[in-house]
Amino acid sequence: MEFSTLLDRRRSIRAFGKAPVDDGEIQAVLEAADSAPSAGDLQAYEVVCVKRADTRALLATAALGQEFVAEAPIVLVFFADPARSSGRYGRRGAELYGLQDATIACAYAQLRAADLGLGSVWVGAFDEAEVARAVRAPAGLRPVALLPIGHPAESPEPTPRRGAANIVRKEGF
Ligand SMILES: Cc1cc2nc3c(=O)[nH]c(=O)nc-3n(C[C@H](O)[C@H](O)[C@H](O)COP(=O)(O)O)c2cc1C
Repeated sequence: MEFSTLLDRRRSIRAFGKAPVDDGEIQAVLEAADSAPSAGDLQAYEVVCVKRADTRALLATAALGQEFVAEAPIVLVFFADPARSSGRYGRRGAELYGLQDATIACAYAQLRAADLGLGSVWVGAFDEAEVARAVRAPAGLRPVALLPIGHPAESPEPTPRRGAANIVRKEGF
């Protein structure tokens, strides 16, 4: 798909069909995440791919009862790994770069999913400890985003934006 068309068409999808997502498509989504830039090329993040219904249910509960998380056939859980970045970048790596690396990787994954005609929604509202527990994450990893992915069962209208002219200040504040 033309990149500008992809940006125009991507929507947050919160209703999913029951059909499973093809393993090749999941692989393509993960490869997109892997291709994202990262601080010092350290890729200070981990991704957990969840298919099991019981784990998806735990994630939905952790996400404050957002049930569509359980209804999507796949949920990717993106974790920042501060320790992977702090070795080279110290406090800035630990506090910032791990979060940014995980965020960019998730954004790439979301765009690739849309490119494949799959639906997804970025979920940031969750109890971090519950998410970590649901996927048995080791101490030190911080969950940044859940990305439920599936075949879209809705076609939402575009949501409003501030507009390019309003998000930019020319030459400074
Ligand atoms: C950091 C972040 C956190 C979000 N958290 C949630 C969430 O917890 N639940 C949800 O339904 N949508 C969540 N969203 C999706 C936004 O609501 C959505 O992207 C926004 O309304 C714009 O709509 P669009 O994605 O269709 O363009 C989140 C998006 C971002 C970037």
